Amino acid sequence: MSGKLYIKTHGCQMNEYDSSKMADVLAASHGLELTTNEADADVILINTCSIREKAQEKVFSQLGRWKELKQAKPALVIGVGGCVASQEGAAIVKRAPYVDLVFGPQTLHRLPQMIEMRRSTQRPQVDISFPEIEKFDHLPEPRKEGPAAFVSIMEGCSKYCSYCVVPYTRGEEISRPFDDVIAEIAALADQGVREITLLGQNVNAWRGPTHDGAIVDLGVLIHAIDQLDGIGRIRFMTSHPLEFSDSLIEAYANVPKLANYLHLPVQSGSDRVLKAMKRGYTRAWFLDKVAMARKKIPNLSISSDLIVAFPGETEEEFAESLQLIEDARFDFLFSFLYSARPGTVAAEMQPVANAVAKARLMRLFDLQAGIQAERMQAFMGTTAEVLVDGRDERGEPVPAGQHRYHGRDRHWKTVVFTSPVPLEIGSLAEVKIDHASPHQLKGSLVVSAATTPCRTPVAKTALPLA
Ligand code: SAH
Ligand code: SF4
Ligand code: F3S
Repeated sequence: MSGKLYIKTHGCQMNEYDSSKMADVLAASHGLELTTNEADADVILINTCSIREKAQEKVFSQLGRWKELKQAKPALVIGVGGCVASQEGAAIVKRAPYVDLVFGPQTLHRLPQMIEMRRSTQRPQVDISFPEIEKFDHLPEPRKEGPAAFVSIMEGCSKYCSYCVVPYTRGEEISRPFDDVIAEIAALADQGVREITLLGQNVNAWRGPTHDGAIVDLGVLIHAIDQLDGIGRIRFMTSHPLEFSDSLIEAYANVPKLANYLHLPVQSGSDRVLKAMKRGYTRAWFLDKVAMARKKIPNLSISSDLIVAFPGETEEEFAESLQLIEDARFDFLFSFLYSARPGTVAAEMQPVANAVAKARLMRLFDLQAGIQAERMQAFMGTTAEVLVDGRDERGEPVPAGQHRYHGRDRHWKTVVFTSPVPLEIGSLAEVKIDHASPHQLKGSLVVSAATTPCRTPVAKTALPLA
């Protein structure tokens, strides 16, 4: 069979990684080619997220629209994967009988067989089991276009924070073996990938078996990735504060390729709320970790997540979150309104009134906007190392004789810059920053007297082009 595949992805980067694997699996088994037009597709998949409200409803309204496509083309295969699929299972087919496949984050590698079974039995197929690490053993060689790639190095989560669905949708925490991760990254580097982001819900809890029976931690893995030809930059996310170890701090010190960036979700600034969330640390402990990390890792940018209006959060407790934001001075903050998730402990607790919750979120946004602007201003006049991601064609016209590019620096900040010479996508460019807005830095390529104004992570190609 050949044909076209359309995938819609919601949720976190682990879902993005999984969607790319769905495409790889179905390209290998059925010769399906990705399309960006759903009306062209022979197979349509939606990779769902259930971390916050309305995720379920969004899925069903999307499915309702695809139902019409199916009426026009009865052979169309519609599949629902990801975290909503994992939670709802066969209930999805009950409510939307035109759905052909329901699969979980851990069974996406079985899509080819599920499609065949659907065809031969004429019945919808549901498989949301957790066959642990099996998924990674049944994936074709990774394929990647572009200089940056995600690599999931673990699945699931065993922390069971009282508000969170992830342990239920993705199962218990399990680490991929060391050799598998290295092999995948080496294959990506061969295809031109220069930046690797290691993914896991608690990625710093990764403990992978090696071929000789040892168990090693994330610090060791980062040192090993550092040795791979072609990889110029390494990131990891998301870290749990409790797992932020000395071994990781050492990796920052010894591996210059490790970006100066750490995503460390705090969730609340109130000790009572942190306890009710089951986070396992206090406000003071968290702030100490941040201070220690900043002291030991020069120029570290830190971002965080915060939940506003967890059940029972009082005005004073919310004020403690505001104060924590003032004290910690995060480069970025992802703040969310608490959303009751079916099946979690917190869903049984008394919610904060919606209007109060929304007003608190606005106050938090205002406070962080000022802090973020200040953090960005601090980059004025500095030189950034930018991984060139693509040409920047938007906004004002590019000056004659110049080229304009965008990319991310070592701090995960977006940088737009001009260059008098064409640059290769995937190279690392030195950029002098002369403008900082709250969301973006701007600048121009540092052109030194030396011949090469920027370098590739491996000296495979001489730069500049032309
Ligand atoms: N494993 C990571 C985060 C995973 S989910 C950690 O623990 O740090 C990403 C973010 O979604 C969380 O950090 C949290 O801020 C938010 N989140 C999770 N469940 C939520 C809920 N029920 N309501 C609102 N936000 C939630
Ligand atoms: Fe959810 Fe907590 Fe696990 Fe993060 S650590 S995925 S918030 S249960
Ligand atoms: Fe969403 Fe599942 Fe990721 S709930 S955030 S897609 S782990």
